[in-house]
Amino acid sequence: MDLSKHASSFGAAADLYDRIRPRYPLEALRWALGDAPREIVDLGAGTGILTRQLRELGHRVIAVEPDDEMRRQIDGDARAGRATAIPVEAESQDAVTAGQAYHWFAGEPAHTEIARVLKPGGWFIPVWNVRDESVPWVAELSEAFDGHRARSAVDERELTPDEFGPLFGTAELELFHWSTTHTPASLVDLIRSRSYYLVSDADTRAALEERVRTLAERTAGGGPFELPYVTYTYRAKKL
Ligand SMILES: C[S@@+](CC[C@H](N)C(=O)[O-])C[C@H]1O[C@@H](n2cnc3c(N)ncnc32)[C@H](O)[C@@H]1O
Repeated sequence: MDLSKHASSFGAAADLYDRIRPRYPLEALRWALGDAPREIVDLGAGTGILTRQLRELGHRVIAVEPDDEMRRQIDGDARAGRATAIPVEAESQDAVTAGQAYHWFAGEPAHTEIARVLKPGGWFIPVWNVRDESVPWVAELSEAFDGHRARSAVDERELTPDEFGPLFGTAELELFHWSTTHTPASLVDLIRSRSYYLVSDADTRAALEERVRTLAERTAGGGPFELPYVTYTYRAKKL
């Protein structure tokens, strides 16, 4: 699988992405960052979903995003850059967050670059909303969404305590359970914002949409239903 093709696939659906992708539970952000205002780089900021939430909590946030179409959706300080070239000064940030993004740049040289921009004792905070696949219909949905989970080498549910390398302390993990309300139509929109769908041909896309619609209708009889998530929130301190 060509990972870079997946990593740069989102721009084509930037509007839809911003409207349909889940937000992050505020308890997760508070657990990772505390309540005091912080200087934060939000890395792989996309359309700014996490950036906005962090700003609403009172933090000062620089959004860093490589894709022009995605970055255009972000208000305020939004800079072109990537995990291997973060356009901020050394030791200037209390935290670097990465919402639904670390799997696109895991490992070196990103770890060294993230550590460069953090103050001593600053935090790296990768976070993912993961559909709760302990619910059988959600497991079936994930197969359609991710093509048998082939999308990346990193499993966000199983990062090791030393995942971020020798410049960081032990990674801590906290899980937050919550859900979003969907209809069959909005669930089809959700798959239309995903990289596996975006890199597929027209026939595959049509088949994926039909599979998701059928699954949603079978599960909920056409009405609104809850899609359960577990938010995997990691934090590791720069040593
Ligand atoms: C699934 S989106 C997440 C966007 C946003 N953080 C959110 O929570 O909705 C992943 C983002 O990572 C960006 N990305 C891909 N490769 C990257 C890299 N090497 N460095 C930084 N960002 C990258 C993509 O352009 C995309 O906008």
